[in-house]
Amino acid sequence: MSKLWGGRFTKQTDQLVEEYTASITFDKELAEEDIQGSLAHVTMLGKCGILPQEDVETIKDGLNRVLGMIRRGELEYTVANEDIHMNIEKTLIDEVGPVGGKLHTGRSRNDQVATDMHLYLRSRVVEFVGLLQKLQEALLTQAKANLDTIVPGYTHLQRAQPILFAHHLMAYVSMFQRDIERLQDSYKRINVLPLGAGALAGTTFPIDRHFVAEQLGFDAVYENSLDAVSDRDFILEFLANASFIMMHLSRFCEELVLWSSTEFAFVELDDAFCTGSSIMPQKKNPDVAELVRGKTGRVYGNLFGLMTVLKALPLAYNKDMQEDKEGMLDTVRTLQGALQLFAPMVATMKVNKDRMRQAVNQDFSNATDIADYLVNKGLPFRQAHEVIGKTVLYCIQQGKFLLDLSMEEFTQFSTLFGEDIYQVLQPEQVVNARNVYGGTAGPQVEGAISRAESRMGET
Ligand code: ARG
Repeated sequence: MSKLWGGRFTKQTDQLVEEYTASITFDKELAEEDIQGSLAHVTMLGKCGILPQEDVETIKDGLNRVLGMIRRGELEYTVANEDIHMNIEKTLIDEVGPVGGKLHTGRSRNDQVATDMHLYLRSRVVEFVGLLQKLQEALLTQAKANLDTIVPGYTHLQRAQPILFAHHLMAYVSMFQRDIERLQDSYKRINVLPLGAGALAGTTFPIDRHFVAEQLGFDAVYENSLDAVSDRDFILEFLANASFIMMHLSRFCEELVLWSSTEFAFVELDDAFCTGSSIMPQKKNPDVAELVRGKTGRVYGNLFGLMTVLKALPLAYNKDMQEDKEGMLDTVRTLQGALQLFAPMVATMKVNKDRMRQAVNQDFSNATDIADYLVNKGLPFRQAHEVIGKTVLYCIQQGKFLLDLSMEEFTQFSTLFGEDIYQVLQPEQVVNARNVYGGTAGPQVEGAISRAESRMGET
């Protein structure tokens, strides 16, 4: 088969080379964006008088026919045509004849592929912001249903202080909010047009890059043609943002795996989001949570893979850069899968409030509060800490919790204790005492929920 660039060659390409260098097996996912870019480009060629209007119409018509073929799954991609750009261009020429060969006037695959990637990621950013917001909604619904659910809060995975379960869930709402904002911020660097940079230096044709940008909805045009064709920062930024999202999801996954174990039994994931064991009939495994946790690795890998590809690459385009696609597409698929499953998994999760409460009743997570109690009675905090440490040790030796101690026992440790200590030690009291902005007290968490809701209403 003759190549679009065959003129300079006297031999056929080696079959293995053809397969090795082709990207069509994966860049076919950019088909829609490639046609979108070509339509804008050819419209501009007409507007600038570079092509006669008649040719422009023929080419546009042909491109739309090719688009139809793609959508109906009729276009047969071939490795001989190397990549999506040349597969489409060849098909266009087959459809409309040699006039189709005028489409590539004033353009190179280097600025073309960069444009496709910008268009592709621009839509993905919008999609992922939407998916993250769905997840935030599921978290908010669970948070509202758990404003009275008290659960141990942990540090070092040791019980630390009791908190509202709603407060714990709202931490994830904040984390995903930062992810949303990072994606939104990256949009201004994604939404920049490379087309018109040509192969690397611009073009001799009197093109209008700003007209193309406007047609494609880009807010800006790359300032420098070399940068336009060799910049992959916007892809790296996306891969980094995806890594943050997966890192956040994987932390949540780890908690869900722990919480749904028999040892914790804080939550039960819906049957629809779990799978069984082929040998142990009793098993219900949190596979989705485990797999999202596991897939975080490949998303990090894709970031580092491309970072490494770009390291020390000279300007401008190098074929190495074709390696930007598979990892990016894999990250997009992985993130789509994770986020699509996560929101309904959270929404259908059953919260075992009694079990959480039982855990809180059987721990020393109210110890800080009696230390604070003694401080309020005038004891320096360090001394109060020491007194309560001894009290806790006594409890452990006696097989008791702080609320089990009698007044006599309390006063053995400090004469500052009064009857009101029993009130101070109640989990509700412990939680509500943390009534600072961002703290776990009910009114604070309610405030955080309503702020999150009004933020969602704005976007
Ligand atoms: N398939 C190529 C890529 O993805 C398109 C650009 C090719 N340009 C070139 N000069 N070989 O990077």
